[in-house]
Amino acid sequence: MDLPQHVEITEVGTRDGFQAEREFIPTETKIEVIDALQDAGVPRIEYSSFVSPRAVPQLADTLEVLQGVKRGKATLVALIANAKGAERAAEARCDEIVVVLSASESHNIKNVNRGVDESLAGMDAIMAHAARVGIPVHGAIATAFGCPFEGDVPTEQVVRIARHLEAAGFAGVGLGDTTGMATPPLVTRTCRALHDALPDFPVSLHFHNTRGIGLCNVMAGLECGIVRFESSIGGLGGCPFAPGATGNICTEDLVYLLHEMGLETGIDIEALCDVARTVEAVVGKALPGQVMRAGGRLALHDLGAVATARG
Ligand code: COA
Ligand code: ZN
Repeated sequence: MDLPQHVEITEVGTRDGFQAEREFIPTETKIEVIDALQDAGVPRIEYSSFVSPRAVPQLADTLEVLQGVKRGKATLVALIANAKGAERAAEARCDEIVVVLSASESHNIKNVNRGVDESLAGMDAIMAHAARVGIPVHGAIATAFGCPFEGDVPTEQVVRIARHLEAAGFAGVGLGDTTGMATPPLVTRTCRALHDALPDFPVSLHFHNTRGIGLCNVMAGLECGIVRFESSIGGLGGCPFAPGATGNICTEDLVYLLHEMGLETGIDIEALCDVARTVEAVVGKALPGQVMRAGGRLALHDLGAVATARG
């Protein structure tokens, strides 16, 4: 397998994760978590979203969070869904914008209250807001590997949307596996189709670990030459507008895998595991991340502390 040297990780836990929590997480706590992620060397953070505070009340403090965090370290990305969100994000001067729309009609309606073509028709207005302040815009295609309401999503639909985004001047596109329906062959097929249609359009992958094969999907993506992945600290996550959505693939488990494969991320895994444990305390429950509990494969145990089995 011909692997890349460096992989770029985007942390999405404070957006994809915190949006799904029942209790409102205080603004100060969000700021502390984002800064701790920056200090651990995470290069890009989708820190929150400028969507309707009525739709996603957990992230209503997105402006205050941006004003409170350190700037100039990680690239701080805000998710948006419409022109009003782009206007707010541009005014707030986040570093990059990600516009979400779904590949399937029914999830797009549930998530952003309009059809796919209506979302696509709004892209020029979004680009105009971002261009005024020089902020790059990426796309995020949710339900790219399947939809909880419609089942299989045709690869051609993903390609059609990506083609539209590239023509509109987007800097790249992420494929979102909103409810963990991706499989390695599906990832390979989709990445190849996108590469064939749009060879110069950067692609990132956003997997959820709903069925336990999130990191296998990452391997399939790496084999296709993908070098950008999204994940969430501790494995937090879940879309409130998709039934059965569970956590994203876990950032520290992903970093562990990549480092063990000899790939660089620029992230300090020990510091990252500390952040994961902090986030567990913040949300008040055990998270699915495994490396933060087990340590690395060479985390040795004290011989004397373990009983010897005697018959
Ligand atoms: N930020 C703040 N307020 C917004 C907004 C935004 N980006 N977009 C719309 N609003 C407000 C409008 O100003 C309007 O307010 P008013 O009633 O006080 O006048 C109200 O919301 C309704 O506006 P409308 O354009 O009709 O929105 P809608 O009800 O069709 O909802 C979205 C569309 C996109 C705003 C909403 O579906 C949404 O926020 N979705 C995002 C969901 C999400 O984040 N999912 C998880 C990520 S995958
Ligand atoms: Zn997600």
